[in-house]
Amino acid sequence: MSFSLGIVGAGQFAGLFVKLFQLHPGIGDISVTDLIPERAERLVTEHHLTGGAVSDFDAMLASDVDAVAIFTQRWTHGPLAVRALRAGKHVYSTVPMAITQEENATIIDAVRETRLTYMMGETSQYHPATVFARQKVAEGAFGRLFYAEGSYIHDMDLGFYAAYQYSGGENWKATASYLPLLYPTHSIGGVLGAWQSHATSVSAIGVDDDRGDGVFDREVSQFDNEFSNTTALFETADGGSFRTNEFRRVGYPSHLGESRFRFFLSSAVEGGSGDVRG
Ligand SMILES: NC(=O)c1ccc[n+]([C@@H]2O[C@H](COP(=O)([O-])OP(=O)(O)OC[C@H]3O[C@@H](n4cnc5c(N)ncnc54)[C@H](O)[C@@H]3O)[C@@H](O)[C@H]2O)c1
Repeated sequence: MSFSLGIVGAGQFAGLFVKLFQLHPGIGDISVTDLIPERAERLVTEHHLTGGAVSDFDAMLASDVDAVAIFTQRWTHGPLAVRALRAGKHVYSTVPMAITQEENATIIDAVRETRLTYMMGETSQYHPATVFARQKVAEGAFGRLFYAEGSYIHDMDLGFYAAYQYSGGENWKATASYLPLLYPTHSIGGVLGAWQSHATSVSAIGVDDDRGDGVFDREVSQFDNEFSNTTALFETADGGSFRTNEFRRVGYPSHLGESRFRFFLSSAVEGGSGDVRG
């Protein structure tokens, strides 16, 4: 029996995942909707999507798709996920899950009540360094982990200006100031994708931006944000800690060094503490 899927949001990222979904033997018809109908039509044409374009999110929820996959802007996911679960659809969502604790709690409640599946698609979970470290942890080769570091370093000059212009239209500067710590999943995901624990507390520091181009400017920012670089220190449930960096201004607009994860062990095991880089 095949499983039908509805894509919500046909912007820059959705096409990459449509290709993967099409390769899955369990997936049948794929349909798509976007606030900008031409984007949905283009995705349908480019990928020969048999489910076709659907007029809007409500029509998608009213259709017989088994699941929706949310590829809308990063601050919009929570309410869409809850509406889809309440409409009886399984949900795949791009990161982040949501942007407030209340939104996250509402999704968890909806999953408990509907018994449907919700998945947040954090791609660091499948980063080669994380996969490697996860295997080592499972083998017991890392001994006791007591500290780790994760970084997602993506300079604004590496494609983010164009991406936010495409995404935000005329008022793109208002959303290009999106807080790095409201998108913390790439750096955290690489650490907790290997370390089988969870965070119990966090303390963070933001560095205000000095480019002066109106992007990280509180007067313009939809998120009242002036921070482009942020560092957070977490406590873990098993008595350790980890530090993450989410940096958007490093004077280094290169794919090299975007993600790096380090794991420190308190007991000597083969390989010892080390750096796993991707
Ligand atoms: N490595 C990763 O995990 C990774 C990489 C890139 C992007 N992303 C995530 O993917 C998501 C999409 O990114 P993108 O760059 O494609 O964004 P985008 O802005 O290019 O596309 C979003 C699309 O969603 C549409 N949309 C918004 N609200 C809608 C609604 N209610 N109903 C239907 N359509 C709606 C918009 O019109 C737009 O076309 C973001 O959450 C982003 O964080 C993740």
